[in-house]
Amino acid sequence: MSQTRETVIILDFGGSSAQMVARRVREAQVYCELLPYKTPWEKIIEKKPKAIILSGGPSDINTENAPICDKKVFESNIPVLAIGYGMGLMVKTLGGALKSGCEGELGPAELIIDRGEALFQGIDTQITAFMDASDCIAFLPEGFEVLAHTNKTPFAAIGNGKNLYGVQFRPEKPSTLAGSDILKNFLFSIAGCRNTWSAKAFIQEQIDLIKKQVGDKKAICALSGGVDSSVAALLVHKAIGDNLICIFVDNGLLRKNEAENVVKTFKDKLNMNLIAVDASSRFLNKLKGVTEPERKRKIIGEEFIRVFEEEAAKLGKIDFLVQGTVYSDVIESGTSSNVAVKSHHNVGGLPEDLEFKLIEPLRELFKDEVRKVGVELGLSEELVYRQPFPGPGLAVRVLGEVTKEKLDILREADFIVTEEIKKAGLYRDLWQAFAILPGVQSVGVKGGMRTYTHTIAIRAITSEDGMTGRWARLPYELLDTISTRITREVEGVNRVVYDITSKPPATIEWE
Ligand code: XMP
Repeated sequence: MSQTRETVIILDFGGSSAQMVARRVREAQVYCELLPYKTPWEKIIEKKPKAIILSGGPSDINTENAPICDKKVFESNIPVLAIGYGMGLMVKTLGGALKSGCEGELGPAELIIDRGEALFQGIDTQITAFMDASDCIAFLPEGFEVLAHTNKTPFAAIGNGKNLYGVQFRPEKPSTLAGSDILKNFLFSIAGCRNTWSAKAFIQEQIDLIKKQVGDKKAICALSGGVDSSVAALLVHKAIGDNLICIFVDNGLLRKNEAENVVKTFKDKLNMNLIAVDASSRFLNKLKGVTEPERKRKIIGEEFIRVFEEEAAKLGKIDFLVQGTVYSDVIESGTSSNVAVKSHHNVGGLPEDLEFKLIEPLRELFKDEVRKVGVELGLSEELVYRQPFPGPGLAVRVLGEVTKEKLDILREADFIVTEEIKKAGLYRDLWQAFAILPGVQSVGVKGGMRTYTHTIAIRAITSEDGMTGRWARLPYELLDTISTRITREVEGVNRVVYDITSKPPATIEWE
């Protein structure tokens, strides 16, 4: 990482607060990183933080195993903003006291600003704030004073007149009016950060780094056509040109026109060094007779690695492998409590024993930042704002055995779904919208003749992150157009149904 970059450290006390704070800090064009709350001070200080933010969290400070951070966080001169749980911890650590067994204020309330300088500079004297004051404070540590209060919470914001600030509301939540401005006051006025973190600056910094790291050696990349691998590949291409060789594997499980479009975009338009391998019959052969979803995933993952390795072996000496890992992957792999409901083999999910050094230029970026970088690099908005598509592709949307005939039907139906959703201007509002072929045949009638053909299911989901989701309330007229077009235009389909199940209890994919 560049030494000139200003870094804000966010200590993560669990729940969603830390990630939301990080998003707000990045939106203010300041670079920040999340670290677990118990990170030792030596590790924190290695990052040379300009400021430290303690996130809110779901824990109760009065319990025995309550999470605590290194005390030195409060003893250096680095500006600290402690939010919600973090503020309770700061108060307790520095000699204040909390009441036990008290019902603190949670949710929106009117916050009255008592001292307008520093943290509340330029903010109205009364604002709605999302309170997170579950740790009721009895008295403050020495040297602290009240900066804001609500009717129920006398110590809603505090400061020690030097570098320590605490708030018992959540500035990162949209329901806290002016919350972003309060965070900006902390970052710019109090901590002296500059707003220099931008897609443009990031790209230049990464290009310099990659050039230095790779020199005139060669790198390869498994390009899937998805947002992350596309942006990563293009960024590395800008740095090392043709010494980046991209391998695109057509596994026969892609959507209509997808393989052609990848070649058109990356080889023809962007002049990248791309090897496109048509391995569709290999994959389909391996999937013959396989009906169990997890086995399908495993076979597809393994076959992908085999094809990739074979292609890589033809290229001679390669030192580096480019991967489109993004920040949420980094954060997710850092938590141990995730229970695997499905094994998510990404197309780029290569084994660890490959003898490459990794280049992961997007490791520090949130998805929306990856998109900004993509646009800045010249990728089309259409590509950059694509909905997620699973690594095993249409194989998990053809239920049961995957055959070419079923895939062809599904591809046509899926194409219509996407086209109509885009036409209706809803594509970006939805997390995903796609078609499924459940393998159910039913009776229909066409031109006065009885038919007995396939059913297509439509799934459209709104979601923030794919972890939970709501079935989308698509307009009836749109559903009607989709259904009419599919039954008219796709040979072998006589019925269309709409999936009205949210996640949970259902998953987004049907397999
Ligand atoms: P589920 O079906 O688990 O999906 O609710 C959540 C998100 O993950 C995607 N998904 C996958 N992505 N490999 C992937 O790369 C997989 O095997 C896989 N299975 C599900 C799914 O499309 C949704 O966005």
